[in-house]
Amino acid sequence: MLRKVERRPPWALEKSMSPALTARAWLRERRKLITLLDADGASDRPPRPALKAIRALRKKRRPQRILRRPSLTMLSLGLADAAASRPPWSPDPEITETVISLRRLPGAFDGLRIVHLTDIHHSIFTPLEEVERAVYLANRLEPDLVALTGDYVTFSPAYIEPVARALGKLKARHGAFAVLGNHDFQVDADGITRALRSYHIRVLRNSRRPLRAGKQTLWIVGVDDLWWNSDDLPAALKAVPARDAKILLCHNPLGIWQASRHAIDLVLSGHTHGGQVRLPGFRHLYRSKLGERFVDGWNRLHATQIYVSRGIGKVIVPIRFDCPSEIACLNLRRGRSSAGLN
Ligand SMILES: [Fe+2]
Repeated sequence: MLRKVERRPPWALEKSMSPALTARAWLRERRKLITLLDADGASDRPPRPALKAIRALRKKRRPQRILRRPSLTMLSLGLADAAASRPPWSPDPEITETVISLRRLPGAFDGLRIVHLTDIHHSIFTPLEEVERAVYLANRLEPDLVALTGDYVTFSPAYIEPVARALGKLKARHGAFAVLGNHDFQVDADGITRALRSYHIRVLRNSRRPLRAGKQTLWIVGVDDLWWNSDDLPAALKAVPARDAKILLCHNPLGIWQASRHAIDLVLSGHTHGGQVRLPGFRHLYRSKLGERFVDGWNRLHATQIYVSRGIGKVIVPIRFDCPSEIACLNLRRGRSSAGLN
């Protein structure tokens, strides 16, 4: 089907057309191709180079996002003033709130509020005060569960104990769950695991924990970092019933390719920092094998949804530009997927 479209590029063949008509023809053909891509469904593999640019043009179908501006939820939390008056140069993270609907979410977990923190990168670039401020703001959101998706420190093991102690102050009804990122493996994966566990944070290293409410179960699954080839999703899913709803914590959003093949309902990731530095004319400095598709915010692959947070800290350069740090508050609802595509 794709070959049929590519065989007849009207903007190349119809030389006599005016520029306006040529542009219209290009748009018409692009729409056709996008329709074909939708009909075929997304590939299990990363987009091929020829299709990557076209897919980047697709209008993102995002779920309802309700906290970019103050909302009733924020008012109830007493955070509206803080968000409304948050100047662009504020050192505080931006608090975003997104409603994500999951078809298989058990009724008992309808309305579950997850606060997602990632890429804290405690170091000289991200001092402890910034980490403690993020923990304070996260607690004010009164989460049911805290998800931590890796990169707690940069460069030195000296930062492990302070960051673990700060994160140990996170409060959530179901507790805090964590996975490790590439920087954690670079510094000391086992040391960070021990430190986080000593503050009662459940570190999932290719393992899972069930949340139970009566006979209903929601699984929290976590894998080690992909860059270090230490992830093992099949092992993490061992003994997890296929029909149960599953949320995967995976530092690198590339994990969505495997997650979609294992019927994961929702992936929470970081790693990209949302680009960290965004310059006019360039949406992100960050480029991955996925192009810009999974750099930040919500997206999906087949029935698997993903949220990629911009994270808290900074690496390589001690600044963020046009890309504030983020505390993502995710409200899970039972129902059709957020974009109505499941
Ligand atoms: Fe990171």
